[in-house]
Order: sequence, then C-alpha cells, then structure tokens
Amino acid sequence: MGAGDATKATSLKEFHARSIADREGFWAEQAALIDWHEPFRRVLDYTNPPFTRWFVGGRTNLCHNAVDRHLASRRDSPALIFVSTETGAERTYTFGELHREVVRMAAIMRELGVRRGDRVLIYMPMIPEATFAMLACARIGAIHSVVFGGFASHSLASRIDDASPVLVVSADAGSRAGKVVPYKPLLDAAIGMARNKPANVVMVDRGLAPFERVAGRDHDYAALRERHLDAEVPVEWLESNEVSYTLYTSGTTGVPKGVQRDVGGYAVALAASMKYIFCGNAGETYFSTSDIGWVVGHSYIVYGPLIAGMATIMYEGTPLRPDAGILWKLVEKYRVTVMFSAPTAIRVLKKQDPSWLTRYDLSSLRALFLAGEPLDEPTARWIGEALGKPIVDNYWQTETGWPILTVAHGIEKTPTRLGSPGMPMYGYDLRLLHEQTGEEVGVDQKGVVAIVPPLPPGCMQTVWGDDDRFVRTYFSTIPGRLVYSTFDWGIRDADGYYFILGRTDDVINVAGHRLGTREIEESLSSHPAVAECAVVGVADSLKGQVAMAFVVLKDPAQAAAQDARLALEGDLMATVDRQLGAVARPARVHFVTLLPKTRSGKVLRRSIQAICEARDPGDLTTIEDPGALDQLRQALGSRT
Ligand code: PRX
Repeated sequence: MGAGDATKATSLKEFHARSIADREGFWAEQAALIDWHEPFRRVLDYTNPPFTRWFVGGRTNLCHNAVDRHLASRRDSPALIFVSTETGAERTYTFGELHREVVRMAAIMRELGVRRGDRVLIYMPMIPEATFAMLACARIGAIHSVVFGGFASHSLASRIDDASPVLVVSADAGSRAGKVVPYKPLLDAAIGMARNKPANVVMVDRGLAPFERVAGRDHDYAALRERHLDAEVPVEWLESNEVSYTLYTSGTTGVPKGVQRDVGGYAVALAASMKYIFCGNAGETYFSTSDIGWVVGHSYIVYGPLIAGMATIMYEGTPLRPDAGILWKLVEKYRVTVMFSAPTAIRVLKKQDPSWLTRYDLSSLRALFLAGEPLDEPTARWIGEALGKPIVDNYWQTETGWPILTVAHGIEKTPTRLGSPGMPMYGYDLRLLHEQTGEEVGVDQKGVVAIVPPLPPGCMQTVWGDDDRFVRTYFSTIPGRLVYSTFDWGIRDADGYYFILGRTDDVINVAGHRLGTREIEESLSSHPAVAECAVVGVADSLKGQVAMAFVVLKDPAQAAAQDARLALEGDLMATVDRQLGAVARPARVHFVTLLPKTRSGKVLRRSIQAICEARDPGDLTTIEDPGALDQLRQALGSRT
C-alpha cells in the first residue's frame, strides 16, 4: 500500500490509533513521500530508550528532497520568493535557480574546507542567501546551526562555543521597521568572546552597513560566488540518522540546549505534515511569516514547503509596513494557498483598520495556521470572521519539529474548537500526567503534557553533545516513568480536544519568541550594580507575555532618586540588549531590597508572577519574609 492510501476513509482518531499500534507499518508508508537513494533496512530502532533511530540504513538527503528532486518536473516553477519591504528587494528563484545558488554556496563551503559532519553557524537576516546556506549544508552533510538574527553577542558566543563551527555565514546587516540592524559588530564581539573560534566567516554584503573585515578569516560571498558560478557539487547521501542541524532553545537553566535533528526522519515527518496537516500541494505557494532563526522557519519556511514542491515566501519585514495590508497583498500577488503566522502578528493587525483584510483577493488562501503561543479566543474569532477561512491553531515545540496537537484536514475535516489547538497528531502517544504521581489525569483535569516514547520521526534525537542532558531534561521529570515532558500544562475535554495552559518551567513566550528567564537573570546579574534579581513572564494583551525584572541592588541608595532609578533601569535594559538582544529586554525593571524566597533560599517566581498579574500568589507558608511581597506590590504600583 502506498502512502496515498493511508487516509482512505479514515478518521483522525483511527489514523492516530494506527500510528501508535503499528508504528513501523505506518511510518514505512509515510517514508514513500520522500526520495531514498538507498532503502532503509529497519523502520525503527528503539533498542536504546529513549533514543530513537528512524529508517535505519536508509540513505537520503534533505537538499535533494527539497530542491534536486523537483528539477525534472518544475525546474522553471517558483521555489523561493524573497520579499523585503525593508529594502524594497523582491525576487523569485525558480527551482532551477535555487539549485544553482545552493550548489554555488556548497562549492564555497567546500573550498573553505567544510566537510561532512562539520558545523556551520548561520547568523543572518531573512535573505535568500540564508536559505542557500542551510540547503548547501544539507547538500554536503554539514550540520547547520542557525542563530536568530535578533540575538546579540553573548547569546551568539555561547552557541558558537557549543557548536564549534568551522564556518560562520553572516551578513552586514538586517533591517527592522526601517532601521538598519548591523550584524557584523555583534558577530565580531561574539567570536572575540568564544573559546572555539571559527576559522572562516563568509559575509554577504547587502550594502546596508559598512563593516571591518578580519584578514584571513572573513571572505566576501559575492567574490567567492563568482568563482563557482558553474560549480557542480553532488549530493552527499547521508544515513537517515546522521545529523542535519542543531537549533538552540531555552529551558530552565541559563545554558541553551542544541536541539539535534536527523535527516530521514525529519524529511519524512515534514512531508507527511505537508500532506495531512497543511494540505499544501506542489506548484502552490506557502507563506510563513516566521524567521529562519526559529523552528517554524526551519520546518515551514525552508524544508517543509520545498520538500512538498511548493514555492515558499521568505519575508523580511513586519506586518505593518508599508501598511497593515502587506501580508494580504502578498497572499494576493503570489496566490498563497497556505499561510502560517503567530497569534501576536494577528493581535497586531487587530488594532488596525479592519478594511485592510478586505482590500485584496484572498481567494487562493485555504487556511491560516497559527502557532508558537496560545491563541486566545477573541483573536481566533476575529481573524476567522475577517478572512472567512479556517484558522488552524497548532501546538508544538522546537524539540518536536512539527505539530503535536492540531486538526489534520488532510485526514478528516475535524472541526476546530476555539481555545484548543486540537487533538494529538499521528505518531505522538500523548498523555496528560499528574506532576507528582505520574498517573494519567481524567477529563477536564490539569496535567503535564507528556509523550510516551519512542518519539515520532522529525523530533529531536538528543541534545547536541550531551545525551545525558537529553535524558535528564526531558525524560526524568515524571516520577517513575520514562516519558518525554513538554513542560506544558494541559487539559483535555470529553471529546478529546486539548487545551494548553502554560509552561511548567521558567520558559516564557514573548510574541511567540521562546526565552529562558534564567538567561535574562544572568545577563542582568552581570551588571556591576546588581546583587540579585528575578525575571518572570507576565501576561500581556499584545505579546502574550513580557519579561518583568525585579532587581536587588548592591547599594539600594543607587535607586533612591527617581532620576537615578530610571537611568539605571535604562542601563540594565541596554545590558540585556547588548548581551542577549532586544528580544529579551524586560518590559520593566523594578528595584526592591528583597526578593520573595522560601526559607531554603529558592526564589518564589510563581508568586512574583501571580502578583504581577494581580492573582492570588498561592501558598506562601514557606516564605522567608512576607515583607518581600509588599515591596513587589509597591514597586508595581509606583509606575513612573
Ligand atoms: O509553551 C508552548 C508554546 O511554545 C512552546 C514551544 O516554543 P518553541 O520551542 O519556540 O516552538 C514553537 C513551535 C510552534 C510550547 O512548549 N506553544 C507553541 N505553540 C502553542 C503554544 N502554546 C499554546 N498554543 C500553541 N499553539
């Protein structure tokens, strides 16, 4: 039976049940959605739990499946559509042209000595060369690690150290809301700080910000490209479980984890999701407003749509410039059928004149997918009614690579339910577990969203360079059970729809950007005036959450006068901007002389968060000094 037959007259529940009861049969069928150079010998190797190896012995390549595979049938069809409302650049690359550029980039990498298994760090704005670089790595079996362009030098340095890349591909600058954001000074500072310095840096010069070149290390992309215009670089056929990329993500500790992914499992998972969840067809256009620095960009700007033979839009810009109709204008112009964005972008648009949504012909659009943060009901209802299209919430993580919960209209037209991302997707043996007992909770009861391994194809293989951390972090939190914790609370209704209720750990979500409060705390603590601090995520009507900081100064007198307090607040924010990037900047920094702590010295972050949100701070019997809470309330009340 071919992959196409799997959906015949099946309900989502049946489809899901089969994916769990007969994992190997199910995924062997899905594997037919991609090209294999050599067939796999074994669908699943789960002899070393919780480590999972999919399609063992199979040889394939992500770049081949995303690009070369389509050359025969759609060489002259659009593949990559680059639109920058920041610089005015707009260019469509056909599959043939994309192939050429990727091969040139691969030749450049080869010339600079990049070999299979080497790491290449990509620190770039949303420009086509970033996609060329990702696909070129995939082509030659190098491991890419894209670092979000909004991250600054400390964030970048810690990732450089962990990945130890032989090459960095970067650009002079990005641009956001009309403002040039230079990248090179941040990159130079990061390499200066890093212990594992890359030997080479390839710079794409957009002519936006002049920069210094480091002789012998920095190379000009345009000059190198000229030398390789007609290069031929064959695809490396990789074993399915070789590493395709790492992508750093935040958790409870201050040190980001390199989420490591394979080749074959990822390709199959994405191909299946394009078919069953996104329902995108070859020859159509996919538009995701995410960024290649995040997992959505990896899966649903670059690999997923291209594997499906779709054109993908790479957009440098905001939803509001030149006006609030820009996203819909692009939908009309490029006949977008599938669109992917984040709830924050929609909340931003909701503040604008609603007529922007009716000015363009959106007849091509079949559905709008939203993910990355909770989708509130008013926003879902508003955009659904305004567009007259299905709004499909989907819940997943950097770690999983593709949706865990959603509705899969390629299998069954399951109705969506407001406030719920939907039901478990095929391959995920999802449970809601009691945090302490590990028992399954009942209908309408809150539990930790957990996945019974083996994790399906496409999910992380391990933490880069640290198998122990993978097991310790994800598989050791539910007592007595080897299950993967998502670190999200959830609840399930009687019909099987899940609702996500927020994180169980110290991860916050600002405008769909996943950030660790510990990293922000460490950055604030590096300021010489700071004795200690606590950062929490606080509900925000636009961004979902914002970071709120409470700082104890070494010398409280420094913040006694209002002027001094404001200056110090600005200085602390600038520290975070410089080290982590403006994306992590706290919305406010409040000065207190005491943080609420337990008698054993643990900061009561949940209570701080509750007070910020004007909620009951909960059980405070363990608090060392209740006066700390009054200080918080006072600090919050005395907004300047
Ligand atoms: O807390 C959940 C939230 O975002 C986290 C994962 O973020 P990240 O690793 O950046 O991956 C985003 C991939 C879309 C989750 O643990 N989250 C993600 N999607 C949703 C969500 N919360 C509620 N509803 C969602 N649809």
